[in-house]
Amino acid sequence: MSAALENDLLLRALLREPTPRTPVWMMRQAGRYLPEYRATRARAGSFLALCTQPDYACEVTLQPLARYPLDAAILFSDILTIPHAMQLGLEFETGAGPTLARPVRSGRDIDALPTLDPERELRYVLDAVRLIRRELGGRVPLIGFAGSPWTVATYMVEGGSSRTFARSKALLYGAPADLHRLLERLTRATMDYLNAQILAGVQAVMLFDTWGGALAPRDYLDFSLAYMARIVDGLVREHDGRRVPAILFTKGGGQWLEPLVRAGADALGLDWTTDLGTARLAVRERVALQGNLDPSVLYAPPAAIRAQVARVLASYGPGHGHVFNLGHGIHPDVNPEHAGAMIAAVHELSPPYHA
Ligand code: CP3
Repeated sequence: MSAALENDLLLRALLREPTPRTPVWMMRQAGRYLPEYRATRARAGSFLALCTQPDYACEVTLQPLARYPLDAAILFSDILTIPHAMQLGLEFETGAGPTLARPVRSGRDIDALPTLDPERELRYVLDAVRLIRRELGGRVPLIGFAGSPWTVATYMVEGGSSRTFARSKALLYGAPADLHRLLERLTRATMDYLNAQILAGVQAVMLFDTWGGALAPRDYLDFSLAYMARIVDGLVREHDGRRVPAILFTKGGGQWLEPLVRAGADALGLDWTTDLGTARLAVRERVALQGNLDPSVLYAPPAAIRAQVARVLASYGPGHGHVFNLGHGIHPDVNPEHAGAMIAAVHELSPPYHA
Protein backbone atom coordinates (compact mmCIF):
# COMPACT_ATOMS: atom_id res chain seq x y z
CA MET A 1 0.00 0.00 0.00
CA SER A 2 2.73 2.47 0.84
CA ALA A 3 4.32 2.29 -2.63
CA ALA A 4 5.78 5.67 -3.61
CA LEU A 5 3.59 7.96 -5.67
CA GLU A 6 4.64 8.53 -9.28
CA ASN A 7 3.00 11.96 -9.22
CA ASP A 8 2.75 13.68 -5.85
CA LEU A 9 2.40 17.26 -7.18
CA LEU A 10 -0.96 17.67 -5.48
CA LEU A 11 0.29 16.64 -2.04
CA ARG A 12 3.35 18.86 -2.36
CA ALA A 13 1.37 21.89 -3.51
CA LEU A 14 -1.15 21.44 -0.68
CA LEU A 15 1.78 21.62 1.75
CA ARG A 16 3.25 24.65 -0.12
CA GLU A 17 6.31 22.68 -1.16
CA PRO A 18 8.03 23.37 -4.52
CA THR A 19 6.61 21.74 -7.67
CA PRO A 20 7.74 22.13 -11.31
CA ARG A 21 4.20 23.16 -12.37
CA THR A 22 0.78 23.78 -10.85
CA PRO A 23 -1.19 20.59 -10.20
CA VAL A 24 -4.76 20.39 -11.50
CA TRP A 25 -7.93 18.42 -10.79
CA MET A 26 -11.65 19.26 -11.10
CA MET A 27 -14.46 19.13 -8.60
CA ARG A 28 -17.01 16.60 -9.93
CA GLN A 29 -14.45 15.37 -12.43
CA ALA A 30 -16.25 12.00 -12.55
CA GLY A 31 -19.77 12.89 -13.58
CA ARG A 32 -22.48 13.46 -16.11
CA TYR A 33 -20.48 15.56 -18.59
CA LEU A 34 -18.63 12.32 -19.47
CA PRO A 35 -20.50 9.92 -21.81
CA GLU A 36 -18.61 6.98 -20.25
CA TYR A 37 -19.99 8.00 -16.83
CA ARG A 38 -23.55 8.10 -18.17
CA ALA A 39 -23.05 4.66 -19.72
CA THR A 40 -21.79 3.16 -16.45
CA ARG A 41 -24.62 4.79 -14.51
CA ALA A 42 -27.13 3.26 -16.94
CA ARG A 43 -25.55 -0.18 -16.39
CA ALA A 44 -25.60 0.28 -12.60
CA GLY A 45 -29.21 1.49 -12.71
CA SER A 46 -28.85 4.62 -10.57
CA PHE A 47 -26.46 7.09 -9.01
CA LEU A 48 -26.78 5.42 -5.59
CA ALA A 49 -25.99 2.05 -7.15
CA LEU A 50 -22.75 3.58 -8.44
CA CYS A 51 -21.87 4.87 -4.98
CA THR A 52 -22.71 1.75 -3.03
CA GLN A 53 -20.96 -0.84 -5.23
CA PRO A 54 -17.18 -0.48 -4.99
CA ASP A 55 -16.53 -1.89 -8.50
CA TYR A 56 -18.70 0.80 -10.04
CA ALA A 57 -17.41 3.56 -7.76
CA CYS A 58 -13.87 2.58 -8.72
CA GLU A 59 -14.67 2.45 -12.43
CA VAL A 60 -16.15 5.96 -12.53
CA THR A 61 -13.45 7.41 -10.25
CA LEU A 62 -10.84 6.34 -12.81
CA GLN A 63 -12.74 7.48 -15.94
CA PRO A 64 -11.53 11.11 -15.98
CA LEU A 65 -7.94 9.93 -15.41
CA ALA A 66 -8.10 7.80 -18.55
CA ARG A 67 -9.04 10.90 -20.56
CA TYR A 68 -6.98 13.68 -19.03
CA PRO A 69 -3.55 14.19 -17.41
CA LEU A 70 -5.05 15.01 -13.99
CA ASP A 71 -2.93 15.17 -10.85
CA ALA A 72 -5.47 13.56 -8.51
CA ALA A 73 -8.36 11.16 -8.33
CA ILE A 74 -11.31 11.99 -6.09
CA LEU A 75 -13.30 9.21 -4.53
CA PHE A 76 -16.63 8.80 -6.31
CA SER A 77 -19.25 9.14 -3.60
CA ASP A 78 -21.52 11.83 -2.18
CA ILE A 79 -21.74 14.02 0.90
CA LEU A 80 -25.16 12.46 1.60
CA THR A 81 -23.75 9.00 2.41
CA ILE A 82 -23.89 9.99 6.10
CA PRO A 83 -27.65 10.74 6.17
CA HIS A 84 -28.12 7.64 4.00
CA ALA A 85 -26.28 5.57 6.63
CA MET A 86 -28.44 7.23 9.31
CA GLN A 87 -31.45 5.64 7.59
CA LEU A 88 -33.10 8.88 6.45
CA GLY A 89 -34.32 7.37 3.19
CA LEU A 90 -32.05 8.98 0.57
CA GLU A 91 -33.10 8.86 -3.06
CA PHE A 92 -31.82 10.54 -6.19
CA GLU A 93 -34.50 10.92 -8.84
CA THR A 94 -32.84 11.64 -12.17
CA GLY A 95 -32.77 15.36 -12.81
CA ALA A 96 -34.53 16.19 -9.52
CA GLY A 97 -31.65 16.16 -7.02
CA PRO A 98 -31.59 14.32 -3.71
CA THR A 99 -34.59 13.71 -1.43
CA LEU A 100 -34.70 12.32 2.11
CA ALA A 101 -37.96 10.55 2.93
CA ARG A 102 -37.47 10.94 6.71
CA PRO A 103 -36.14 14.45 7.32
CA VAL A 104 -34.98 15.61 10.74
CA ARG A 105 -37.48 18.16 12.02
CA SER A 106 -37.47 18.16 15.82
CA GLY A 107 -35.20 17.74 18.82
CA ARG A 108 -36.65 14.26 19.15
CA ASP A 109 -35.68 13.37 15.55
CA ILE A 110 -32.15 14.60 16.29
CA ASP A 111 -31.82 12.52 19.46
CA ALA A 112 -33.09 9.44 17.62
CA LEU A 113 -30.29 9.55 15.01
CA PRO A 114 -28.14 6.42 15.15
CA THR A 115 -24.41 6.54 15.94
CA LEU A 116 -22.41 5.34 12.97
CA ASP A 117 -19.53 2.93 12.75
CA PRO A 118 -18.00 3.75 9.34
CA GLU A 119 -16.54 0.27 8.87
CA ARG A 120 -20.08 -1.09 9.24
CA GLU A 121 -22.65 1.30 7.72
CA LEU A 122 -20.22 2.97 5.31
CA ARG A 123 -18.10 -0.04 4.55
CA TYR A 124 -18.93 0.23 0.83
CA VAL A 125 -17.14 3.61 0.71
CA LEU A 126 -14.07 2.26 2.49
CA ASP A 127 -14.03 -0.81 0.23
CA ALA A 128 -14.17 1.56 -2.75
CA VAL A 129 -11.20 3.51 -1.34
CA ARG A 130 -9.17 0.32 -0.93
CA LEU A 131 -10.04 -0.86 -4.44
CA ILE A 132 -9.31 2.53 -6.05
CA ARG A 133 -5.92 2.72 -4.33
CA ARG A 134 -5.09 -0.70 -5.69
CA GLU A 135 -6.21 0.18 -9.24
CA LEU A 136 -4.43 3.55 -9.18
CA GLY A 137 -1.17 1.77 -8.45
CA GLY A 138 0.42 5.00 -7.18
CA ARG A 139 -0.14 7.02 -10.38
CA VAL A 140 -1.71 9.99 -8.53
CA PRO A 141 -3.03 10.57 -5.00
CA LEU A 142 -6.63 9.80 -4.04
CA ILE A 143 -8.68 12.54 -2.37
CA GLY A 144 -11.38 11.60 0.14
CA PHE A 145 -14.13 13.94 1.24
CA ALA A 146 -17.22 14.64 3.30
CA GLY A 147 -19.73 17.46 3.55
CA SER A 148 -19.46 20.04 6.30
CA PRO A 149 -21.85 19.44 9.21
CA TRP A 150 -23.86 22.57 8.33
CA THR A 151 -24.16 21.66 4.64
CA VAL A 152 -25.20 18.06 5.37
CA ALA A 153 -27.59 19.30 8.08
CA THR A 154 -29.43 21.49 5.54
CA TYR A 155 -30.26 18.40 3.45
CA MET A 156 -31.31 16.44 6.55
CA VAL A 157 -33.60 19.21 7.81
CA GLU A 158 -35.02 20.33 4.45
CA GLY A 159 -35.44 16.76 3.17
CA GLY A 160 -33.48 17.69 0.03
CA SER A 161 -32.08 20.70 -1.81
CA SER A 162 -33.37 24.15 -0.98
CA ARG A 163 -33.09 27.72 -2.20
CA THR A 164 -34.06 29.54 1.00
CA PHE A 165 -33.05 26.98 3.68
CA ALA A 166 -36.41 27.79 5.29
CA ARG A 167 -36.50 24.95 7.80
CA SER A 168 -32.78 24.91 8.60
CA LYS A 169 -32.82 28.65 9.27
CA ALA A 170 -36.04 28.38 11.29
CA LEU A 171 -34.13 25.91 13.45
CA LEU A 172 -31.01 28.09 13.55
CA TYR A 173 -32.88 31.19 14.70
CA GLY A 174 -35.75 29.53 16.62
CA ALA A 175 -34.12 26.54 18.32
CA PRO A 176 -30.34 27.02 18.04
CA ALA A 177 -29.61 24.47 20.77
CA ASP A 178 -31.34 21.78 18.68
CA LEU A 179 -29.32 22.70 15.60
CA HIS A 180 -26.11 22.63 17.67
CA ARG A 181 -27.01 19.11 18.84
CA LEU A 182 -27.50 18.00 15.26
CA LEU A 183 -24.20 19.60 14.22
CA GLU A 184 -22.44 17.87 17.14
CA ARG A 185 -23.72 14.49 15.96
CA LEU A 186 -22.62 15.21 12.40
CA THR A 187 -19.22 16.47 13.54
CA ARG A 188 -18.51 13.22 15.37
CA ALA A 189 -19.79 11.10 12.45
CA THR A 190 -17.83 13.11 9.87
CA MET A 191 -14.58 12.97 11.86
CA ASP A 192 -14.88 9.20 12.24
CA TYR A 193 -15.82 8.83 8.58
CA LEU A 194 -12.88 10.89 7.27
CA ASN A 195 -10.45 9.12 9.58
CA ALA A 196 -11.76 5.79 8.33
CA GLN A 197 -11.23 7.00 4.74
CA ILE A 198 -7.65 7.98 5.65
CA LEU A 199 -6.95 4.60 7.25
CA ALA A 200 -8.45 2.92 4.16
CA GLY A 201 -6.02 4.86 1.94
CA VAL A 202 -7.15 8.37 0.90
CA GLN A 203 -4.09 10.65 0.75
CA ALA A 204 -5.79 14.05 1.20
CA VAL A 205 -9.22 15.03 2.49
CA MET A 206 -11.58 17.85 1.60
CA LEU A 207 -14.61 19.22 3.46
CA PHE A 208 -17.30 20.58 1.12
CA ASP A 209 -19.16 23.43 2.79
CA THR A 210 -21.36 24.21 -0.17
CA TRP A 211 -23.92 26.21 1.82
CA GLY A 212 -21.77 27.98 4.43
CA GLY A 213 -21.94 31.10 2.26
CA ALA A 214 -25.72 31.27 2.79
CA LEU A 215 -25.15 32.19 6.45
CA ALA A 216 -24.78 35.60 8.10
CA PRO A 217 -21.17 36.18 9.23
CA ARG A 218 -21.61 35.43 12.94
CA ASP A 219 -23.74 32.38 12.12
CA TYR A 220 -21.15 31.12 9.64
CA LEU A 221 -18.53 31.16 12.41
CA ASP A 222 -20.76 29.53 15.02
CA PHE A 223 -22.77 27.04 12.96
CA SER A 224 -20.40 26.06 10.16
CA LEU A 225 -16.75 26.99 10.66
CA ALA A 226 -16.55 26.04 14.37
CA TYR A 227 -17.61 22.47 13.53
CA MET A 228 -15.28 22.19 10.54
CA ALA A 229 -12.42 23.37 12.77
CA ARG A 230 -13.22 20.61 15.26
CA ILE A 231 -13.17 18.04 12.48
CA VAL A 232 -9.80 19.29 11.22
CA ASP A 233 -8.55 19.13 14.79
CA GLY A 234 -9.59 15.48 15.13
CA LEU A 235 -8.22 14.26 11.80
CA VAL A 236 -5.41 11.75 11.46
CA ARG A 237 -2.84 14.05 9.87
CA GLU A 238 -0.17 11.50 9.08
CA HIS A 239 -0.63 8.04 7.62
CA ASP A 240 1.68 5.57 5.93
CA GLY A 241 4.65 7.85 6.60
CA ARG A 242 3.16 10.92 4.90
CA ARG A 243 1.21 13.97 5.91
CA VAL A 244 -2.44 13.80 4.86
CA PRO A 245 -3.36 17.38 3.85
CA ALA A 246 -6.81 18.73 4.68
CA ILE A 247 -8.67 21.21 2.44
CA LEU A 248 -11.62 23.37 3.53
CA PHE A 249 -13.96 24.69 0.86
CA THR A 250 -16.74 27.09 1.79
CA LYS A 251 -18.57 28.25 -1.33
CA GLY A 252 -18.92 32.02 -0.94
CA GLY A 253 -16.37 31.93 1.89
CA GLY A 254 -13.95 34.54 0.49
CA GLN A 255 -14.92 37.12 3.09
CA TRP A 256 -13.92 34.78 5.95
CA LEU A 257 -10.33 33.98 4.98
CA GLU A 258 -8.80 34.90 8.34
CA PRO A 259 -11.06 32.64 10.44
CA LEU A 260 -10.78 29.94 7.75
CA VAL A 261 -6.98 30.00 7.99
CA ARG A 262 -7.24 29.67 11.77
CA ALA A 263 -9.37 26.54 11.43
CA GLY A 264 -6.07 24.72 10.88
CA ALA A 265 -6.41 23.08 7.46
CA ASP A 266 -3.46 22.91 5.05
CA ALA A 267 -5.35 24.47 2.16
CA LEU A 268 -8.46 26.50 1.38
CA GLY A 269 -10.66 26.04 -1.68
CA LEU A 270 -11.96 29.26 -3.23
CA ASP A 271 -14.79 29.90 -5.65
CA TRP A 272 -14.40 32.36 -8.53
CA THR A 273 -15.92 35.34 -6.69
CA THR A 274 -12.67 35.84 -4.75
CA ASP A 275 -9.49 37.09 -6.41
CA LEU A 276 -6.71 34.53 -5.83
CA GLY A 277 -3.97 37.17 -5.57
CA THR A 278 -5.88 39.15 -2.96
CA ALA A 279 -6.60 35.95 -1.04
CA ARG A 280 -2.95 34.94 -1.24
CA LEU A 281 -1.88 38.22 0.36
CA ALA A 282 -4.50 37.76 3.09
CA VAL A 283 -3.50 34.20 4.02
CA ARG A 284 0.20 35.15 4.21
CA GLU A 285 1.79 31.77 3.41
CA ARG A 286 -0.13 29.97 6.14
CA VAL A 287 -2.19 27.78 3.79
CA ALA A 288 -2.21 26.68 0.15
CA LEU A 289 -5.05 27.85 -2.11
CA GLN A 290 -7.14 25.71 -4.45
CA GLY A 291 -9.25 27.08 -7.29
CA ASN A 292 -10.80 29.01 -8.79
CA LEU A 293 -11.83 29.15 -12.46
CA ASP A 294 -15.52 29.93 -12.96
CA PRO A 295 -16.93 26.55 -14.12
CA SER A 296 -18.95 28.43 -16.77
CA VAL A 297 -15.71 29.42 -18.53
CA LEU A 298 -15.84 25.86 -19.93
CA TYR A 299 -18.86 26.85 -22.06
CA ALA A 300 -16.54 29.12 -24.08
CA PRO A 301 -14.29 27.86 -26.93
CA PRO A 302 -10.81 26.43 -26.09
CA ALA A 303 -8.91 29.63 -26.92
CA ALA A 304 -11.02 31.60 -24.45
CA ILE A 305 -10.60 28.85 -21.84
CA ARG A 306 -6.84 29.07 -22.25
CA ALA A 307 -6.93 32.85 -21.75
CA GLN A 308 -8.98 32.46 -18.56
CA VAL A 309 -6.63 29.76 -17.24
CA ALA A 310 -3.77 32.19 -17.87
CA ARG A 311 -5.63 34.83 -15.88
CA VAL A 312 -6.17 32.53 -12.86
CA LEU A 313 -2.49 31.47 -12.89
CA ALA A 314 -1.40 35.11 -13.11
CA SER A 315 -3.72 36.13 -10.30
CA TYR A 316 -2.03 33.64 -7.96
CA GLY A 317 1.34 34.70 -9.36
CA PRO A 318 4.84 33.22 -9.03
CA GLY A 319 5.58 30.68 -6.34
CA HIS A 320 4.21 27.50 -4.85
CA GLY A 321 1.07 26.57 -2.93
CA HIS A 322 -1.55 26.78 -5.69
CA VAL A 323 -3.70 23.84 -6.81
CA PHE A 324 -5.60 24.65 -9.98
CA ASN A 325 -9.28 23.72 -9.89
CA LEU A 326 -12.66 25.02 -10.88
CA GLY A 327 -14.33 27.29 -8.34
CA HIS A 328 -17.14 24.72 -8.00
CA GLY A 329 -18.19 21.46 -9.69
CA ILE A 330 -18.02 21.07 -13.46
CA HIS A 331 -21.43 21.56 -15.09
CA PRO A 332 -23.08 18.43 -16.54
CA ASP A 333 -23.58 19.99 -20.01
CA VAL A 334 -19.94 20.95 -20.59
CA ASN A 335 -18.14 19.56 -23.64
CA PRO A 336 -15.47 17.12 -22.34
CA GLU A 337 -12.97 18.54 -24.85
CA HIS A 338 -13.27 21.89 -23.12
CA ALA A 339 -12.26 20.33 -19.79
CA GLY A 340 -9.29 18.87 -21.66
CA ALA A 341 -8.38 22.34 -22.98
CA MET A 342 -8.38 23.71 -19.43
CA ILE A 343 -6.12 20.94 -18.13
CA ALA A 344 -3.73 21.24 -21.09
CA ALA A 345 -3.50 24.99 -20.53
CA VAL A 346 -2.51 24.47 -16.88
CA HIS A 347 0.23 22.06 -17.98
CA GLU A 348 1.53 24.46 -20.62
CA LEU A 349 1.20 27.79 -18.88
CA SER A 350 2.07 27.07 -15.25
CA PRO A 351 5.81 26.05 -15.32
CA PRO A 352 7.11 29.66 -15.57
CA TYR A 353 5.38 30.43 -12.26
CA HIS A 354 7.56 27.78 -10.59
CA ALA A 355 10.92 28.71 -12.14
O1 CP3 B 1 -15.90 15.56 -7.31
C1 CP3 B 1 -16.11 14.37 -7.63
O2 CP3 B 1 -15.90 13.94 -8.79
C2 CP3 B 1 -16.53 13.38 -6.56
C3 CP3 B 1 -17.90 13.12 -6.53
C4 CP3 B 1 -18.89 14.01 -5.80
C5 CP3 B 1 -20.28 13.89 -6.02
N1 CP3 B 1 -20.93 14.66 -5.13
C6 CP3 B 1 -20.89 13.05 -7.04
C7 CP3 B 1 -22.25 13.36 -7.51
C8 CP3 B 1 -18.72 14.94 -4.77
C9 CP3 B 1 -17.44 15.50 -4.17
C10 CP3 B 1 -20.02 15.33 -4.36
C11 CP3 B 1 -20.28 16.27 -3.24
C12 CP3 B 1 -21.63 16.83 -3.08
N2 CP3 B 1 -22.83 16.19 -3.17
C13 CP3 B 1 -21.89 18.15 -2.67
C14 CP3 B 1 -20.85 19.15 -2.32
C15 CP3 B 1 -20.04 19.56 -3.47
C16 CP3 B 1 -20.63 20.65 -4.27
O3 CP3 B 1 -20.82 20.45 -5.47
O4 CP3 B 1 -20.82 21.72 -3.68
C17 CP3 B 1 -23.28 18.31 -2.59
C18 CP3 B 1 -24.02 19.57 -2.22
C19 CP3 B 1 -23.86 17.05 -2.88
C20 CP3 B 1 -25.29 16.70 -2.84
C21 CP3 B 1 -25.77 16.33 -4.18
N3 CP3 B 1 -25.39 15.21 -4.87
C22 CP3 B 1 -26.72 17.03 -4.96
C23 CP3 B 1 -27.36 18.35 -4.57
C24 CP3 B 1 -26.88 16.30 -6.12
C25 CP3 B 1 -27.87 16.56 -7.20
C26 CP3 B 1 -27.48 17.73 -8.01
C27 CP3 B 1 -26.73 17.24 -9.19
O5 CP3 B 1 -25.63 17.77 -9.44
O6 CP3 B 1 -27.27 16.35 -9.84
C28 CP3 B 1 -26.02 15.18 -6.07
C29 CP3 B 1 -25.83 14.13 -7.09
C30 CP3 B 1 -24.45 13.82 -7.55
N4 CP3 B 1 -23.35 13.71 -6.76
C31 CP3 B 1 -24.07 13.54 -8.89
C32 CP3 B 1 -22.70 13.24 -8.86
C33 CP3 B 1 -21.84 12.82 -10.03
C34 CP3 B 1 -25.00 13.51 -10.08
C35 CP3 B 1 -25.80 12.25 -9.97
C36 CP3 B 1 -26.17 11.71 -11.32
O7 CP3 B 1 -25.36 10.96 -11.92
O8 CP3 B 1 -27.29 11.99 -11.76
